[in-house]
Amino acid sequence: MTSHSGFDKLAPFYRLMEKLIAGKILQEARTAHTDKLQQPSNVLMLGEGPGRLLAHLLDRLPSAHFLVMDQSQGMLNQALKCLQRTHSDCSRITWLNRNILTQDIPDGPYDLITTPFFLDCFTQDQLDLIIPSIASRSAQQCDWLLIDFQIPATGKFRSTRARCVHRLMYTFFRIITGIDADHVVEPDSLMEAAGFRRLSRLEFNTGLIRSDLWRRVGKISGNGGRPHSIRRNEDSSKEYPDSTRAGLAKPPSPPT
Ligand SMILES: C[S@@+](CC[C@H](N)C(=O)[O-])C[C@H]1O[C@@H](n2cnc3c(N)ncnc32)[C@H](O)[C@@H]1O
Repeated sequence: MTSHSGFDKLAPFYRLMEKLIAGKILQEARTAHTDKLQQPSNVLMLGEGPGRLLAHLLDRLPSAHFLVMDQSQGMLNQALKCLQRTHSDCSRITWLNRNILTQDIPDGPYDLITTPFFLDCFTQDQLDLIIPSIASRSAQQCDWLLIDFQIPATGKFRSTRARCVHRLMYTFFRIITGIDADHVVEPDSLMEAAGFRRLSRLEFNTGLIRSDLWRRVGKISGNGGRPHSIRRNEDSSKEYPDSTRAGLAKPPSPPT
């Protein structure tokens, strides 16, 4: 199954669920590297969910534009609702309700890409297509905040504990949201093949979570990293909500 509209069911409870189960840890992981970013002007946020990293970056990057793409309209609604409480001006955000497996990411170039707890929703075959596709939209100088659950590389207790947590987590998400993935796939080799180098990795909660800063410097070779076989269905994509009524911005223009 590749439709993840099941995330709509989780959307109203997602923030509360995070608070009760993980406290501040996930947000610490999301924001761990934001001090090290090159000042971006055009940000692509994928699978942003209810908008916690977005709220943080809106304050940190006062002149950047944000394209927020998520397959779940419920999650986008939650993000907008929460931001309207804390931020009077959301005009630097473009909201896009699209499924990355079946629909295009708008062309960049983007000089910051964020995927918090997003890539771990996908199988190896899906990541083989998704990561090059995302990378092909990056600017020559581009940072990528990659935050995911992981199985720690060292420590028997740490890795056994992580395997147990992952089993529970994937069982829950597969039932509720319908994701295909049943374990976390290591994205590092695909990131490197796509022209990115890892600058930093921080681990949280005994290695259960990792927060990476990757950076692309220079050209991507070959076909620009674009996959050939992602299914496209541009017509069913939807930019929402209505930009005038909701006070939302037009898609950001690429940096010159
Ligand atoms: C596990 S949640 C993570 C939410 C948030 N980024 C966070 O840090 O908690 C995964 C998010 O990715 C979105 N998502 C999952 N599959 C997707 C797809 N195929 N295309 C676009 N968004 C997707 C979900 O709707 C959800 O908002």
